Amino acid sequence: MNPTYDFTGQVAFVTGAGSGMGLAAARAFAASGAAVALADIDEATVTRVAQQLKDEGHQVLALLSDVTDEDQVAAAVDRTVDAFGRLDMAYNNAGIMPPPTDAADESADQFDRVNAVNLRGIWASMKHELRHMRTQGSGAIVNCSSLGGLVGNPGRAAYHATKHGVIGLTKSAALEYGSRGVRINAVCPGTISTPMVDAMVEGGELDRQQAEAGQAIDRLGTAEEIAQAVLWLCSPGAGYVTGIALPVDGGYTAR
Ligand SMILES: NC(=O)c1ccc[n+]([C@@H]2O[C@H](COP(=O)([O-])OP(=O)(O)OC[C@H]3O[C@@H](n4cnc5c(N)ncnc54)[C@H](O)[C@@H]3O)[C@@H](O)[C@H]2O)c1
Repeated sequence: MNPTYDFTGQVAFVTGAGSGMGLAAARAFAASGAAVALADIDEATVTRVAQQLKDEGHQVLALLSDVTDEDQVAAAVDRTVDAFGRLDMAYNNAGIMPPPTDAADESADQFDRVNAVNLRGIWASMKHELRHMRTQGSGAIVNCSSLGGLVGNPGRAAYHATKHGVIGLTKSAALEYGSRGVRINAVCPGTISTPMVDAMVEGGELDRQQAEAGQAIDRLGTAEEIAQAVLWLCSPGAGYVTGIALPVDGGYTAR
């Protein structure tokens, strides 16, 4: 991907950076000149992809961080600032998709798990990023919601609840920090071709052709297309944009 932005001298922190959209965003930040901390629960993978970026000449740091553990998140953000001296941009992306369930059958364990990663994980990430950004008086945060933050879907109540919650967190924090130099937005990807969606197709949870036909732009999105939206939201071009939930969904939520 051709870098469109110049983030030289800036520092980005990405959660769930080992795969899919997190990895695409980390690559795009690096290609645009930023130093990038790649955090993920999958240490082996994030170490491998960070090494690839390093070999390409980028300034990167691989961090083991499970977003359900606030202490690990705080430590990962602190290590980023220790290593690179500041924190300018964050993409809070780590998330999971539980198997579809009739709402009458969903277990409390499944609800708690998806909530712990997709909502509490974003809460913890944003909280500890803001500790540094409020001192700095500048920063841009993008939280990963979903088309599932804007509409419902049968069988997916818990997942969609977490993604709606991400938008609530985003809007409230954006209002709190707008006059303090920090912009906070959410991105709402549609159905994007990533390992998460590949697993849903392989598991028979999602019919790829049906999913493609469900978009106005009748194909799945790419991780790089989401990364482009994330970088724009972090860029000076979006300097007057805060508190939004930006659909990048091929028109899915236009229906
Ligand atoms: N793929 C889609 O169609 C789609 C659509 C809308 C929203 N999303 C959201 O986008 C985000 C990224 O999805 P993806 O499709 O790239 O998924 P993916 O499965 O390819 O990547 C997710 C990454 O998050 C990491 N992760 C999982 N649990 C974690 C935890 N507890 N702590 C830290 N890292 C953890 C995984 O190891 C993995 O590297 C998720 O929040 C997902 O809900 C995906």
